[in-house]
Amino acid sequence: THQWRGIIEEYRDRLPVSDTTPVVTLREGGTPLVPAQVLSERTGCEVHLKVEGANPTGSFKDRGMTMAISKAKEEGAKAVICASTGNTSASAAAYAVRAGMVSAVLVPQGKIALGKMGQALVHGAKILQVDGNFDDCLTLARALSENYPVALVNSVNPVRIEGQKTAAFEIVDMLGDAPDIHVLPVGNAGNITAYWKGYKEYAGDGVSAKTPRMWGFQASGSAPIVRGEVVKDPSTIATAIRIGNPASWEYALAARDESGGAIDEVTDREILRAYRLLAAQEGVFVEPASAASVAGLLKAAEQGKVDPGQRIVCTVTGNGLKDPDWAVAGAPQPVTVPVDAATAAERLGLA
Ligand code: F0G
Repeated sequence: THQWRGIIEEYRDRLPVSDTTPVVTLREGGTPLVPAQVLSERTGCEVHLKVEGANPTGSFKDRGMTMAISKAKEEGAKAVICASTGNTSASAAAYAVRAGMVSAVLVPQGKIALGKMGQALVHGAKILQVDGNFDDCLTLARALSENYPVALVNSVNPVRIEGQKTAAFEIVDMLGDAPDIHVLPVGNAGNITAYWKGYKEYAGDGVSAKTPRMWGFQASGSAPIVRGEVVKDPSTIATAIRIGNPASWEYALAARDESGGAIDEVTDREILRAYRLLAAQEGVFVEPASAASVAGLLKAAEQGKVDPGQRIVCTVTGNGLKDPDWAVAGAPQPVTVPVDAATAAERLGLA
Protein backbone atom coordinates (compact mmCIF):
# COMPACT_ATOMS: atom_id res chain seq x y z
CA THR A 1 0.00 0.00 0.00
CA HIS A 2 3.00 2.29 -0.12
CA GLN A 3 3.16 2.27 -3.89
CA TRP A 4 3.05 5.61 -5.69
CA ARG A 5 -0.55 5.93 -6.87
CA GLY A 6 -0.07 7.79 -10.15
CA ILE A 7 -0.28 11.52 -10.75
CA ILE A 8 -4.06 11.87 -10.56
CA GLU A 9 -4.31 10.42 -7.06
CA GLU A 10 -1.09 12.06 -5.84
CA TYR A 11 -2.10 15.54 -7.10
CA ARG A 12 -5.89 15.19 -7.31
CA ASP A 13 -6.56 18.60 -5.71
CA ARG A 14 -4.53 20.33 -8.43
CA LEU A 15 -6.06 18.56 -11.43
CA PRO A 16 -9.41 19.00 -13.20
CA VAL A 17 -10.92 15.71 -12.02
CA SER A 18 -13.93 14.96 -9.84
CA ASP A 19 -15.01 12.03 -7.68
CA THR A 20 -16.81 10.56 -10.67
CA THR A 21 -13.88 10.77 -13.11
CA PRO A 22 -12.76 7.22 -13.92
CA VAL A 23 -9.04 7.15 -13.18
CA VAL A 24 -7.16 5.36 -15.95
CA THR A 25 -3.63 4.93 -14.67
CA LEU A 26 -0.47 2.87 -14.96
CA ARG A 27 0.95 4.60 -11.84
CA GLU A 28 2.87 7.12 -13.90
CA GLY A 29 4.97 9.90 -12.35
CA GLY A 30 6.96 9.68 -9.14
CA THR A 31 10.05 9.48 -11.35
CA PRO A 32 13.63 9.69 -10.01
CA LEU A 33 15.36 13.03 -9.57
CA VAL A 34 18.97 11.94 -9.95
CA PRO A 35 21.96 14.09 -8.96
CA ALA A 36 24.26 14.42 -11.99
CA GLN A 37 27.83 14.37 -10.73
CA VAL A 38 29.71 14.94 -13.98
CA LEU A 39 27.36 17.67 -15.17
CA SER A 40 27.61 19.35 -11.78
CA GLU A 41 31.40 19.33 -11.97
CA ARG A 42 31.40 20.64 -15.54
CA THR A 43 29.08 23.53 -14.76
CA GLY A 44 30.02 24.32 -11.17
CA CYS A 45 26.33 23.96 -10.38
CA GLU A 46 24.08 21.46 -8.59
CA VAL A 47 22.58 19.61 -11.54
CA HIS A 48 19.78 17.06 -11.29
CA LEU A 49 18.18 14.88 -13.94
CA LYS A 50 14.43 14.32 -13.89
CA VAL A 51 14.39 10.85 -15.41
CA GLU A 52 11.08 10.65 -17.24
CA GLY A 53 12.11 7.49 -19.09
CA ALA A 54 11.17 5.74 -15.84
CA ASN A 55 7.47 6.22 -16.59
CA PRO A 56 5.36 3.15 -17.47
CA THR A 57 5.67 3.51 -21.25
CA GLY A 58 9.11 5.06 -21.04
CA SER A 59 8.40 8.77 -21.50
CA PHE A 60 6.84 11.83 -19.84
CA LYS A 61 3.81 11.47 -22.08
CA ASP A 62 2.20 9.14 -19.54
CA ARG A 63 1.57 12.08 -17.18
CA GLY A 64 -0.59 13.79 -19.78
CA MET A 65 -2.09 10.60 -21.08
CA THR A 66 -3.54 9.42 -17.76
CA MET A 67 -5.44 12.71 -17.70
CA ALA A 68 -6.43 12.72 -21.38
CA ILE A 69 -7.68 9.14 -21.39
CA SER A 70 -9.44 9.46 -18.03
CA LYS A 71 -11.29 12.58 -19.21
CA ALA A 72 -12.08 11.01 -22.59
CA LYS A 73 -13.57 8.01 -20.77
CA GLU A 74 -15.54 10.29 -18.47
CA GLU A 75 -17.00 11.97 -21.54
CA GLY A 76 -17.98 8.62 -23.02
CA ALA A 77 -15.42 8.43 -25.82
CA LYS A 78 -14.93 5.00 -27.35
CA ALA A 79 -11.87 5.88 -29.43
CA VAL A 80 -8.92 8.25 -29.21
CA ILE A 81 -6.56 9.58 -31.86
CA CYS A 82 -3.20 11.33 -31.87
CA ALA A 83 -0.43 12.48 -34.14
CA SER A 84 2.96 11.47 -32.88
CA THR A 85 6.69 11.27 -33.39
CA GLY A 86 6.39 8.02 -31.40
CA ASN A 87 6.11 8.54 -27.66
CA THR A 88 2.62 10.01 -27.56
CA SER A 89 1.37 7.13 -29.69
CA ALA A 90 3.03 4.54 -27.44
CA SER A 91 1.44 6.15 -24.39
CA ALA A 92 -1.99 6.64 -25.97
CA ALA A 93 -2.02 3.01 -27.11
CA ALA A 94 -1.20 1.68 -23.64
CA TYR A 95 -3.67 3.90 -21.76
CA ALA A 96 -6.41 3.17 -24.31
CA VAL A 97 -5.96 -0.53 -23.51
CA ARG A 98 -6.44 0.24 -19.80
CA ALA A 99 -9.60 2.17 -20.60
CA GLY A 100 -11.05 -0.42 -22.98
CA MET A 101 -10.89 2.05 -25.86
CA VAL A 102 -9.66 1.88 -29.42
CA SER A 103 -6.62 3.99 -30.28
CA ALA A 104 -5.64 5.36 -33.66
CA VAL A 105 -2.22 6.89 -34.22
CA LEU A 106 -0.79 8.90 -37.09
CA VAL A 107 2.98 8.85 -37.42
CA PRO A 108 5.37 10.31 -40.01
CA GLN A 109 6.35 7.49 -42.34
CA GLY A 110 9.87 6.19 -41.73
CA LYS A 111 10.62 8.76 -39.03
CA ILE A 112 9.76 7.08 -35.75
CA ALA A 113 12.06 4.93 -33.65
CA LEU A 114 11.49 1.18 -33.83
CA GLY A 115 10.85 0.72 -30.09
CA LYS A 116 8.00 3.23 -30.21
CA MET A 117 6.46 1.58 -33.26
CA GLY A 118 6.71 -1.74 -31.42
CA GLN A 119 4.86 -0.29 -28.44
CA ALA A 120 1.96 1.02 -30.54
CA LEU A 121 1.74 -2.32 -32.34
CA VAL A 122 1.86 -4.53 -29.27
CA HIS A 123 -0.79 -2.42 -27.52
CA GLY A 124 -3.04 -2.91 -30.55
CA ALA A 125 -3.23 0.63 -31.88
CA LYS A 126 -4.52 1.26 -35.37
CA ILE A 127 -1.50 2.82 -37.01
CA LEU A 128 -1.37 4.97 -40.12
CA GLN A 129 2.02 5.99 -41.45
CA VAL A 130 1.46 9.36 -43.05
CA ASP A 131 3.35 10.45 -46.12
CA GLY A 132 4.39 13.69 -44.43
CA ASN A 133 5.97 15.02 -41.25
CA PHE A 134 4.60 15.34 -37.69
CA ASP A 135 2.98 18.68 -38.48
CA ASP A 136 1.02 17.05 -41.31
CA CYS A 137 0.01 14.23 -38.95
CA LEU A 138 -1.32 16.74 -36.42
CA THR A 139 -3.31 18.58 -39.08
CA LEU A 140 -4.86 15.27 -40.08
CA ALA A 141 -5.55 14.19 -36.49
CA ARG A 142 -7.30 17.49 -35.74
CA ALA A 143 -9.46 17.15 -38.86
CA LEU A 144 -10.45 13.59 -37.97
CA SER A 145 -11.33 14.49 -34.37
CA GLU A 146 -13.48 17.39 -35.56
CA ASN A 147 -15.43 15.32 -38.06
CA TYR A 148 -15.57 11.82 -36.61
CA PRO A 149 -16.38 10.28 -33.17
CA VAL A 150 -12.82 10.14 -31.88
CA ALA A 151 -11.18 12.19 -29.09
CA LEU A 152 -7.91 14.03 -29.77
CA VAL A 153 -5.26 13.30 -27.12
CA ASN A 154 -2.40 15.43 -28.41
CA SER A 155 -1.07 18.18 -26.14
CA VAL A 156 -3.39 20.68 -27.85
CA ASN A 157 -5.87 18.96 -25.52
CA PRO A 158 -5.48 21.14 -22.39
CA VAL A 159 -5.84 18.24 -19.92
CA ARG A 160 -2.61 16.79 -21.31
CA ILE A 161 -0.81 19.92 -20.10
CA GLU A 162 -2.53 19.61 -16.72
CA GLY A 163 -1.15 16.11 -16.27
CA GLN A 164 2.34 17.02 -17.42
CA LYS A 165 2.62 19.98 -15.03
CA THR A 166 2.86 17.46 -12.16
CA ALA A 167 6.53 16.89 -12.99
CA ALA A 168 7.24 20.42 -11.77
CA PHE A 169 5.32 19.67 -8.56
CA GLU A 170 7.41 16.56 -7.93
CA ILE A 171 10.63 18.52 -8.36
CA VAL A 172 9.60 21.22 -5.89
CA ASP A 173 8.28 18.59 -3.46
CA MET A 174 11.66 16.86 -3.65
CA LEU A 175 13.98 19.88 -3.52
CA GLY A 176 11.94 22.02 -1.16
CA ASP A 177 11.82 24.85 -3.70
CA ALA A 178 11.96 25.36 -7.45
CA PRO A 179 15.41 25.15 -9.06
CA ASP A 180 17.08 28.30 -10.42
CA ILE A 181 17.01 26.98 -13.97
CA HIS A 182 14.92 24.25 -15.59
CA VAL A 183 16.18 22.87 -18.90
CA LEU A 184 14.22 20.75 -21.36
CA PRO A 185 13.99 19.68 -24.98
CA VAL A 186 11.34 21.39 -27.09
CA GLY A 187 9.39 19.78 -29.91
CA ASN A 188 5.69 20.55 -30.06
CA ALA A 189 6.31 22.76 -26.99
CA GLY A 190 3.66 21.18 -24.77
CA ASN A 191 6.05 20.12 -22.05
CA ILE A 192 7.77 23.48 -21.51
CA THR A 193 4.25 24.95 -21.33
CA ALA A 194 3.24 22.35 -18.75
CA TYR A 195 6.27 22.74 -16.48
CA TRP A 196 5.91 26.50 -16.49
CA LYS A 197 2.25 26.17 -15.55
CA GLY A 198 3.17 23.80 -12.71
CA TYR A 199 5.92 26.04 -11.35
CA LYS A 200 3.70 29.13 -11.52
CA GLU A 201 0.90 27.34 -9.70
CA TYR A 202 3.12 26.20 -6.84
CA ALA A 203 4.72 29.63 -6.49
CA GLY A 204 1.34 31.33 -6.67
CA ASP A 205 0.09 29.19 -3.79
CA GLY A 206 3.27 29.71 -1.77
CA VAL A 207 4.37 26.07 -2.00
CA SER A 208 7.61 27.30 -3.56
CA ALA A 209 9.35 30.63 -2.95
CA LYS A 210 10.36 31.17 -6.56
CA THR A 211 9.99 30.01 -10.16
CA PRO A 212 12.91 28.86 -12.32
CA ARG A 213 14.18 30.36 -15.51
CA MET A 214 12.93 28.06 -18.30
CA TRP A 215 15.52 27.03 -20.86
CA GLY A 216 14.27 25.13 -23.89
CA PHE A 217 16.37 23.57 -26.64
CA GLN A 218 15.32 22.62 -30.13
CA ALA A 219 17.37 20.60 -32.61
CA SER A 220 19.07 22.91 -35.11
CA GLY A 221 17.34 21.34 -38.13
CA SER A 222 13.96 21.66 -36.40
CA ALA A 223 14.19 24.99 -34.61
CA PRO A 224 11.19 27.08 -35.68
CA ILE A 225 10.92 28.92 -32.37
CA VAL A 226 14.60 29.92 -32.48
CA ARG A 227 14.30 31.02 -36.14
CA GLY A 228 10.98 32.74 -35.60
CA GLU A 229 9.41 30.96 -38.56
CA VAL A 230 7.86 27.63 -39.49
CA VAL A 231 10.39 25.05 -40.70
CA LYS A 232 8.82 23.35 -43.73
CA ASP A 233 11.03 20.29 -43.85
CA PRO A 234 12.37 19.70 -40.31
CA SER A 235 15.31 17.37 -39.89
CA THR A 236 17.26 15.92 -36.94
CA ILE A 237 18.38 12.51 -35.73
CA ALA A 238 16.30 13.24 -32.62
CA THR A 239 13.09 12.10 -34.31
CA ALA A 240 10.95 12.79 -31.23
CA ILE A 241 11.48 16.54 -31.70
CA ARG A 242 11.48 16.63 -35.49
CA ILE A 243 8.74 19.27 -35.60
CA GLY A 244 8.56 22.38 -37.76
CA ASN A 245 5.42 24.10 -36.50
CA PRO A 246 4.89 23.53 -32.75
CA ALA A 247 1.28 23.64 -31.59
CA SER A 248 2.18 25.34 -28.29
CA TRP A 249 4.56 27.89 -29.87
CA GLU A 250 2.96 30.95 -28.21
CA TYR A 251 2.91 29.28 -24.79
CA ALA A 252 6.58 28.39 -25.14
CA LEU A 253 7.40 32.03 -25.86
CA ALA A 254 5.36 33.04 -22.81
CA ALA A 255 7.24 30.52 -20.63
CA ARG A 256 10.53 31.86 -21.92
CA ASP A 257 9.66 35.53 -21.46
CA GLU A 258 7.74 35.34 -18.18
CA SER A 259 10.50 33.26 -16.59
CA GLY A 260 13.41 35.29 -17.91
CA GLY A 261 14.53 32.19 -19.77
CA ALA A 262 15.74 31.29 -23.24
CA ILE A 263 14.97 29.03 -26.19
CA ASP A 264 18.02 28.07 -28.21
CA GLU A 265 19.16 25.27 -30.50
CA VAL A 266 21.65 22.40 -30.36
CA THR A 267 23.13 20.52 -33.31
CA ASP A 268 22.72 16.79 -33.81
CA ARG A 269 26.42 16.45 -33.03
CA GLU A 270 25.93 18.23 -29.68
CA ILE A 271 22.88 16.07 -28.96
CA LEU A 272 24.81 12.86 -29.59
CA ARG A 273 27.74 14.04 -27.47
CA ALA A 274 25.37 14.68 -24.55
CA TYR A 275 23.60 11.37 -25.23
CA ARG A 276 26.89 9.50 -24.88
CA LEU A 277 28.00 11.49 -21.85
CA LEU A 278 24.75 10.74 -20.02
CA ALA A 279 25.05 7.02 -20.67
CA ALA A 280 28.82 6.63 -20.23
CA GLN A 281 29.37 9.04 -17.34
CA GLU A 282 26.08 9.44 -15.48
CA GLY A 283 24.69 5.94 -16.03
CA VAL A 284 21.46 7.29 -17.46
CA PHE A 285 20.34 5.96 -20.86
CA VAL A 286 18.01 8.35 -22.64
CA GLU A 287 16.78 8.70 -26.19
CA PRO A 288 18.50 11.29 -28.40
CA ALA A 289 15.77 13.96 -28.11
CA SER A 290 16.06 13.83 -24.33
CA ALA A 291 19.76 14.61 -24.53
CA ALA A 292 18.93 17.97 -26.13
CA SER A 293 18.34 19.42 -22.65
CA VAL A 294 21.77 18.36 -21.43
CA ALA A 295 23.41 19.37 -24.71
CA GLY A 296 21.86 22.79 -24.24
CA LEU A 297 23.09 23.11 -20.68
CA LEU A 298 26.64 22.18 -21.75
CA LYS A 299 26.50 24.62 -24.65
CA ALA A 300 25.31 27.42 -22.38
CA ALA A 301 28.05 26.59 -19.86
CA GLU A 302 30.71 26.71 -22.59
CA GLN A 303 29.34 30.11 -23.64
CA GLY A 304 29.75 31.35 -20.08
CA LYS A 305 25.99 31.72 -19.62
CA VAL A 306 25.79 29.51 -16.52
CA ASP A 307 26.79 31.21 -13.27
CA PRO A 308 28.23 28.67 -10.84
CA GLY A 309 26.41 27.68 -7.68
CA GLN A 310 22.95 27.45 -9.17
CA ARG A 311 20.55 24.60 -8.80
CA ILE A 312 19.57 23.23 -12.20
CA VAL A 313 17.16 20.49 -13.26
CA CYS A 314 17.35 18.93 -16.73
CA THR A 315 14.38 16.85 -17.80
CA VAL A 316 15.44 13.79 -19.76
CA THR A 317 12.17 12.96 -21.42
CA GLY A 318 12.40 9.41 -22.79
CA ASN A 319 14.06 6.03 -22.25
CA GLY A 320 17.11 5.10 -24.32
CA LEU A 321 15.68 1.66 -25.08
CA LYS A 322 13.13 3.25 -27.39
CA ASP A 323 15.76 4.09 -29.98
CA PRO A 324 18.86 1.94 -29.37
CA ASP A 325 20.22 2.41 -32.92
CA TRP A 326 22.30 5.36 -31.74
CA ALA A 327 23.79 3.36 -28.88
CA VAL A 328 24.97 0.66 -31.24
CA ALA A 329 26.04 2.87 -34.16
CA GLY A 330 29.68 3.82 -34.01
CA ALA A 331 30.33 1.65 -30.93
CA PRO A 332 33.00 -1.09 -31.17
CA GLN A 333 31.64 -4.55 -32.03
CA PRO A 334 31.75 -6.95 -29.07
CA VAL A 335 34.39 -9.65 -29.60
CA THR A 336 33.42 -13.34 -29.65
CA VAL A 337 35.34 -15.77 -27.46
CA PRO A 338 35.29 -19.53 -26.86
CA VAL A 339 34.19 -20.89 -23.45
CA ASP A 340 37.68 -20.42 -22.06
CA ALA A 341 38.53 -18.33 -19.00
CA ALA A 342 42.09 -17.56 -20.02
CA THR A 343 41.04 -16.18 -23.42
CA ALA A 344 38.14 -14.25 -21.89
CA ALA A 345 40.43 -12.75 -19.24
CA GLU A 346 42.92 -11.72 -21.89
CA ARG A 347 40.24 -10.10 -24.08
CA LEU A 348 38.88 -8.23 -21.08
CA GLY A 349 42.33 -6.91 -20.28
CA LEU A 350 42.30 -8.67 -16.91
CA ALA A 351 45.33 -10.84 -17.58
N1 F0G B 1 11.39 14.46 -25.76
C1 F0G B 1 10.74 13.37 -26.19
C2 F0G B 1 11.34 12.04 -25.89
C3 F0G B 1 9.53 13.50 -26.89
O1 F0G B 1 8.89 12.41 -27.31
C4 F0G B 1 9.02 14.79 -27.15
C5 F0G B 1 7.78 14.96 -27.89
C6 F0G B 1 9.74 15.89 -26.66
C7 F0G B 1 10.91 15.69 -25.97
C8 F0G B 1 9.29 17.28 -26.86
O2 F0G B 1 8.20 17.59 -26.04
O3 F0G B 1 6.61 18.18 -27.83
O4 F0G B 1 6.14 18.73 -25.45
O5 F0G B 1 7.91 19.94 -26.71
N2 F0G B 1 7.16 14.01 -28.47
C9 F0G B 1 5.85 14.14 -29.12
C10 F0G B 1 5.35 12.77 -29.53
C11 F0G B 1 5.80 15.15 -30.20
O6 F0G B 1 4.56 12.66 -30.47
O7 F0G B 1 5.70 11.78 -28.88
P1 F0G B 1 7.15 18.68 -26.52
